[in-house]
Amino acid sequence: MAPRPGRNGSRRSKVSLSSSRCRVAILISGSGSNLQSFIDRAASGKLAVDIAIVFSNRVDAYGLTRAGNAGISTRCLEHSDYPNRESFDQALAQKLDQHQPDLLVLAGFMRILSPWIVDHYKGKILNIHPALLPAYPGLNTHQRVLDANEKWHGSTVHFVTDELDGGPRILQGRLRVDHRESAEDLAKRVQSVEHQIYPEAANWFAEGRLEFRNGEAMFDGKPLAEPIVKDFE
Ligand code: GRF
Repeated sequence: MAPRPGRNGSRRSKVSLSSSRCRVAILISGSGSNLQSFIDRAASGKLAVDIAIVFSNRVDAYGLTRAGNAGISTRCLEHSDYPNRESFDQALAQKLDQHQPDLLVLAGFMRILSPWIVDHYKGKILNIHPALLPAYPGLNTHQRVLDANEKWHGSTVHFVTDELDGGPRILQGRLRVDHRESAEDLAKRVQSVEHQIYPEAANWFAEGRLEFRNGEAMFDGKPLAEPIVKDFE
């Protein structure tokens, strides 16, 4: 399996020097528990990416405090200061590019990205969605899953394309629904799954095992027709 090219066109080796490690920008809008899972993995030496910047579109996002506590640089741009989606996204990209990210990790970033910025970072944006996509795109997934009496629920890491919650799926964490539990309890269980699968998928990207090619997610050089599924309690 060939490692993916680095920023300067060099091949990224699996055991890389720290200067050539994959640089990640993590985008948040709120609590940042997924961000925390990246921070905790980094602290235990099991994260193959460097968190170059944490970006928020809300000044009051608690994730900014988490990043600050971990000594990570933060930036904030409020979307209400911009006349439209694309002008905000252009300002965002200008700020992000100062940190030369190899990968954008959307972790509860509550903004729909414009086609312009999706193209600007083509194949380099990951998102995590709290459902087993393609089932339950959109909001309020946990209650909808309970209402529909589903047996399974979970979360999906996918590449971001112009289609909302519709980009190529990479990794799903799946758990059985207990119909005695509330939507809040189910959400907590799903989030604990997310905290395990999201850093793992980012590590695959950094190691060159995962890439976006011709509109598909490729894993170890082969297209992922279906996402990799891991079962959790
Ligand atoms: C996660 O549940 C994720 O699936 C969704 O937004 C939530 C963010 O939570 N995209 P947090 O801010 O990481 O705690």
